[in-house]
Amino acid sequence: MSQFESFPDPIPDPIFGITQLFSEESREEKINLSIGAYVDETGRVPILNVIKQAEQELIESETTKAYFPLTGDRLFNQKMGEMMFGTLPPNAFTLSTPGGTGALFLAMETLVRHMTGTIHFSNPTWANHKQIAKRCGLEIGHYPYLKKDRSGVDFDEMMRAIGEIPPGEAICLQVSCHNPTGYDLTPPQWDQVLDLVVQKGLIPLFDYAYQGFASECQTDNYPLRAYAERGQIGFVAYSCSKNFSLYGERTGALAVLTQSPEEERKVQGVLKSLVRTSYSNQPIHGTKLVAEILNSSDLTAIWHTQLSQMKERLEAMTKELSSGLNLPHLAEAHGFFTLLPISLDQVEKLRRDHAIYMPDNGRIALSALNPSNIHQVIDALKGVL
Ligand code: LMR
Repeated sequence: MSQFESFPDPIPDPIFGITQLFSEESREEKINLSIGAYVDETGRVPILNVIKQAEQELIESETTKAYFPLTGDRLFNQKMGEMMFGTLPPNAFTLSTPGGTGALFLAMETLVRHMTGTIHFSNPTWANHKQIAKRCGLEIGHYPYLKKDRSGVDFDEMMRAIGEIPPGEAICLQVSCHNPTGYDLTPPQWDQVLDLVVQKGLIPLFDYAYQGFASECQTDNYPLRAYAERGQIGFVAYSCSKNFSLYGERTGALAVLTQSPEEERKVQGVLKSLVRTSYSNQPIHGTKLVAEILNSSDLTAIWHTQLSQMKERLEAMTKELSSGLNLPHLAEAHGFFTLLPISLDQVEKLRRDHAIYMPDNGRIALSALNPSNIHQVIDALKGVL
């Protein structure tokens, strides 16, 4: 017996834990609707052709595997700024990070060490948001997001709750393809939220993990462009996992909006020290691939086409699910997920009686649906809803 004996019992991750349960399921007809990655019709996470092409070019041109500087790759950072804002605003900078989660971690560590002890998330939100915040030592608050019947955004309640957050605290806002609901704000609603955030002096941490899945890349970044115009401080955590299908390559970025070169220098210093003392350097492979694609107009055009194909398949599955279940509001969801109007008992019944697996909150990963399983899923859902 050692000190390890007194360690707490492991708590399964609310999303990855379901995939673990699924892998232990022996029934052949089993379906995993919990996957947080885009899978194609054959159930495989694809490597995009454009990635293969960029990899080929990289193999031929790459002369070193040296470390990046602590801020990451200069070209990638510049391209990420353009993806997020069109043009990087004055006194803003970007830093390469190990995925969107790495960016969220750096932002939340910066918040808790130097700015505020509390961050507010939408209710519901991505399960890992709260786990990262807790690990960083932030207190967690919530603002309502979803209507009680899960049919869309409860905008009035959201605004009322944001209006009650004490000045100086942080708020996490998902830019598009809200995870887990799929429901996004309209541009006029964003304007109202951003005005309120500015008026209250809140610190926004935007989470942008699905650029290009709600609409064209330079359209669905509206909230970031609109916020940048307001000239305030904030953070953006960006993920290339989904739109470049680079999940395991851990490729992402953190943008920070500051108000002067002096502020920029100091915030960069804090972030460089966090990078150095946690994982030391950005993984290079995925970072170089994305930079290579975005630095070539030919590769960028191919990438946009492949991104649209993934988006269109998700939209087709969303529509079919919505009409099959006779739930018209589901068709308004964007991106990877939708949240079914379903209880935990019903989620468990689906696992038990139909070998259909989803997280406890009733979130469906839409890309896990395909023409050969969608009817099985619709029939099973009709039986429990
Ligand atoms: C998800 O929400 O399932 C994805 O973002 C993958 C993950 O890391 O949880």
